[in-house]
Amino acid sequence: MLLLSGPNIAGNEWKYVKDCLDTGWVSSVGAYVNQFENMVAEFAGCKYGVATSNGTAALQVALQLANVQRDDYVIVPNVTFIASVNSIKYSGANPILIDVDPQTWQMDLNLLKDFLENETGQKNGQCVYLKNDRVIKCIMPVHVLGNVCDMDRLMKLADEYNLAIVEDATESLGSYYKGRHTGGFGLLGCFSFNGNKIITTGGGGVIVTNNEELAKKAKHLTTQAKSDTFEYIHDEVGYNFRLVNVLAAMGVAQMELLPSFIKRKKTIDAMYRKQLGGVGDITFQKVEPLVDPNCWLFTLMTDKQKMVLQILNDHKMQSRPFWVPMNKLRMFQNDVYYTNDDRSDFVYKRCLSIPCSTNITDVEIDAVVEKIKSVY
Ligand SMILES: Cc1ncc(COP(=O)(O)O)c(C=O)c1O
Repeated sequence: MLLLSGPNIAGNEWKYVKDCLDTGWVSSVGAYVNQFENMVAEFAGCKYGVATSNGTAALQVALQLANVQRDDYVIVPNVTFIASVNSIKYSGANPILIDVDPQTWQMDLNLLKDFLENETGQKNGQCVYLKNDRVIKCIMPVHVLGNVCDMDRLMKLADEYNLAIVEDATESLGSYYKGRHTGGFGLLGCFSFNGNKIITTGGGGVIVTNNEELAKKAKHLTTQAKSDTFEYIHDEVGYNFRLVNVLAAMGVAQMELLPSFIKRKKTIDAMYRKQLGGVGDITFQKVEPLVDPNCWLFTLMTDKQKMVLQILNDHKMQSRPFWVPMNKLRMFQNDVYYTNDDRSDFVYKRCLSIPCSTNITDVEIDAVVEKIKSVY
């Protein structure tokens, strides 16, 4: 099976994991945890990193640190992986789902601006949803597939309307906007190291921030909020969300490989664009000139989505449709969905992702291209 975006264990993973096993440092503390946190933070251009058990946990804690509380709102794009919205629900808040741009597949900032102008007001220095006066605490941009929206414009809107930014940067390790890495634009940013991501720890996440106090709080909350080094005194309801040393060891090895993985993802992206450009009605994700994406998951758009999915999967070339838009999921049907013409649905019905693991060979890419061409 040619995997969609599988792990590439090609460096010091065995060596560092063996080191953990040999020394007995396998669990929740150890040198690799600190090293991994520092490596990710430094790569993302942030001062602090806090490792977590996965990206979803990172988002949950980041929202709590952004002071998102029960019955608040968080603005999020309608096309994303469910974990973005689940993390909002865990905090007792609700999402405001904003429709996406049909070309970049990111939150449509024109619509966001319309929404903020027409549907919100300011009360006691906070942004409120006019329909019920409930507070909108923050915006969670999601850098979908490693692409990035116009961050200057987004930050300006957030500033103007007193909204914090918590970035769902889970897919965007290695992506830049105007030379600045994702994750460090807002209050906090979250990365994922799930098996399909550009680097993986099997499962894992890191919260990044430039705020020392928030970093300390993130560490505290994710490690059961223990306030005494000896006695079991805990000063709030924390979580066991730490990343274990064995997995962090794998992460350190993967971080060493990251520059080569980004390079390979970009080559794969360029190859597919070149070979599939002009085939039938196929189009690709639009990347704005100020964005330097990590090209994490190669995704194309076509009216023949179902046929392409069928032929690739029939030939053991793993390919997947886009996420079902959040407004269509049973749990979120009563949440606010702000749209003009439901372009999420347009994107959802046409997009599909195709094999692009960093260890895919050029010959395998050619084979995928041939199969796709045969549909047209
Ligand atoms: C957009 C998005 N948000 C959140 C997550 C959650 O990350 P994790 O699977 O590490 O919990 C993922 C990835 O899985 C993702 O793609």
